[in-house]
Amino acid sequence: MLSGIQPTSASYHLGNYLGALKQWVAMQDAYEVFYFLADLHALTAELPDPAVLTDRSRRAAAQLIAAGVDPERSAIFLQSHVPAHTQLSWVFECLTGFGEGSRMTQFKDKSARGNADRVSVGLFTYPILQAADILIYQAHYVPVGEDQRQHIELTRNLAQRFNNRYGETFVMPDAYITKEAAKILDLQDPTAKMSKSLPDAGTLNLLDDSAVLAKKIKRATTDGETEIRFDPATKPGISNLLAILSAVTDSPIATLEADFAGQGYGGLKNAVADAVVAFTEPFGKRMAEVLADIPELDRVLARGAERARAIADVTVKSVYDRVGFVPAAGR
Ligand code: TYM
Repeated sequence: MLSGIQPTSASYHLGNYLGALKQWVAMQDAYEVFYFLADLHALTAELPDPAVLTDRSRRAAAQLIAAGVDPERSAIFLQSHVPAHTQLSWVFECLTGFGEGSRMTQFKDKSARGNADRVSVGLFTYPILQAADILIYQAHYVPVGEDQRQHIELTRNLAQRFNNRYGETFVMPDAYITKEAAKILDLQDPTAKMSKSLPDAGTLNLLDDSAVLAKKIKRATTDGETEIRFDPATKPGISNLLAILSAVTDSPIATLEADFAGQGYGGLKNAVADAVVAFTEPFGKRMAEVLADIPELDRVLARGAERARAIADVTVKSVYDRVGFVPAAGR
């Protein structure tokens, strides 16, 4: 089992947690898991100030631990600490068609938003590096949100293509996407996914102050009716609030619909705010505790990278041999 998350902001948001991190935590008992901070990917959209990138990466690692990822059971590491990711990525770049890369919707969306000279080649090859991230660990499952489905499809295509050309090498990975939390929507514009690139009022950052979170939830866009019913097509705002409450409290949506029958939207919003804050308050405290000891955090990341390299280096060696690169003497 493997997944990655980019360290592109000071705080993750509730979409990251419910769509991905919550599953990461749940799966660490049943699987051998590898979770990494995609710091190489974090350069693709903008080039952050070096000190900012360093800080975000450590904060991201601390947030994984605060969310419940246990460094004893799970290998937590930084992508940049495992050179095998980029070593494998090059081979996959040579197996990917230019047209195929151009059809990636996330690339199309992100490049449409940036101005032309800010659209880097790294943004274009982003999904190919992601394929290498996954295949290098022979991962069976990849827990992600809905927006990553196409990247996992590309990963499967590349695995198949390599296996066909060079012989069975890679395990075919499956995306692991939970139904309700696969796409948490923006609170202000519940037709768009919650994202750090949208205005802050619609994004529930896990490290936001409790009063700020409550205010954002109370101002969430709803609709002109009064009925609390899960119906994403006609009631996206209310359905999103129900999906959030359901995922945060682990209660089925049908139960919530029954519980809130006859109540107003205000009551639902209060319940969502209480549930979210009950999660984020201890989360913020745990993250601050982890971040208070940076040498220990760096040791955790070093141990994680060591575990990761032990597997990733074997895959790269096998791939390089199969491709026909001359083995380095003594390797
Ligand atoms: P990133 O950092 O953009 O997103 C991290 C995870 O959060 C999920 N997510 C959401 N889920 C539900 N609702 C939302 N509104 C929402 N917003 C974000 C994303 O689906 C993702 O699972 N490309 C990956 C990073 C990556 C990766 C990998 C993932 C790099 N290599 C290898 C898996 C395997 C990404 O978009 O991360």
